[in-house]
Amino acid sequence: MGEKASSRASFSSRFGYVMAAAGSAVGLGNIWRFPYLAAKYGGGAFLVVYLILVFTFGYTLLMAETQIGRHTRKSPIGAFEHYGKSFPYRFGGWINSLVPMIILPYYCVIGGWVLEYLSGYFKNQVQEMAGDNYFSDLIGNAQSEEFWFIIFGICTIAVIILGVQKGVERVSTILMPILIVLTIVVAIYSITRPGAMEGVKYFLIPSSTNFSWMTVVAALGQMFYSLSCAMGIMITYGSYMKSDVDSEKTTTQIEFFDTFIAIMAGLMIIPAVFAFSGSSAADNLQAGPSLMFITMPKVFGSMGFGMPIGIVFFLLVFLAALTSSISIAEAVVSTFEDQFGWKRIPAALLTAAILFGFGTLCSCGFNVLSNVTILGMDFLDFFDFLSNSIMMPIAAMATCILVLRKIKLDEFARQVMVTSEFKRRKIFNFVMKYLSIGFLAIILISSVLNVLGVIKI
Ligand code: PFF
Repeated sequence: MGEKASSRASFSSRFGYVMAAAGSAVGLGNIWRFPYLAAKYGGGAFLVVYLILVFTFGYTLLMAETQIGRHTRKSPIGAFEHYGKSFPYRFGGWINSLVPMIILPYYCVIGGWVLEYLSGYFKNQVQEMAGDNYFSDLIGNAQSEEFWFIIFGICTIAVIILGVQKGVERVSTILMPILIVLTIVVAIYSITRPGAMEGVKYFLIPSSTNFSWMTVVAALGQMFYSLSCAMGIMITYGSYMKSDVDSEKTTTQIEFFDTFIAIMAGLMIIPAVFAFSGSSAADNLQAGPSLMFITMPKVFGSMGFGMPIGIVFFLLVFLAALTSSISIAEAVVSTFEDQFGWKRIPAALLTAAILFGFGTLCSCGFNVLSNVTILGMDFLDFFDFLSNSIMMPIAAMATCILVLRKIKLDEFARQVMVTSEFKRRKIFNFVMKYLSIGFLAIILISSVLNVLGVIKI
């Protein structure tokens, strides 16, 4: 089974691939989700568990997906069918392809909120945005929410229409370095505020008091989300990777990149909350998902230079979210191109129809359709639950089963070693054989129990 040569689009270089894949991984998950989970689950203890998981389990999943894409040169449906046409393999391909279709619309709605905050800081509405009801008023206003969502969606689709090299790769190679610089600037500003050191200690020093089994479960789910695993993206991006690129080295670089930005985001947010909310810092950090949209604007409202810092902060969140939504859309477009034999423009237009149709439903879920719920959830929460809690663990299980049962570990290693030393082969084999299915089952069961209210993640 040699690697196929084809006329398929490809990234022009290893650097281009790493920037695009890191652009995918670094997103709202790093800046919005990671800091609030770290704050909630024991600061440094969460960080240690997270790091161990990223470099073992995360590495294994990323390697598996990238190599499957690279070997078959197909998006998920075709990639799975390459190995077997029976139901389990077809199902594995379909579920990996469906996940990005579900995530894309609501991810762009959240991207629209980020844009709306960014425009507010440009208009110097620093104090208004620090108000208690600003966020609920924002999502309650159907017209402006839809407007910013559409702008964000258009940015995503425009890049996709430009193509893999001229769009995805070029935009990622420009935006990712800017993102790193902005992140470092804000993190340095944040940790040098008076009182911020308490936050740095809280974030970095492991303490057993805040540690529980839920720390591990939360870190596991976050690792999965943050690395863009189980959503067809790494299979698709692997299929665009040149055949002489070292897949292990690139995977390691993506892991470092993603983890670095997550840690920097923790250093931007947690010390700032300590510096600007005094004795209530620990409580404020428990804000959960609203940490970025409610707590941070309050912090900016009470600090000097709130306007420029707010602009830089939301600009970097926007860049991170945009490069991720581009990758999610690319996974969808590539499936349409491969399955229907379509050209890029019609495939991108169908993707746009899904994005704007379901995205509008999600954005209306907070206002004109707020009386409609599914299983007690608004549309956005429901699509998030369906994809992240149910479909992604199953999609990842399908990938692991494909590697274990069909490709087999020795053949997988042979394929990787065409271009790589495969230094972490022992870790890969161990995680695949003994841990992967169990870990994924833990994520699946615990996130369902969380939604049912049986446990609290
Ligand atoms: N890995 C990206 C992030 O951390 O935001 C992209 C992403 C992952 C988007 C998972 C959506 C999602 F459900």
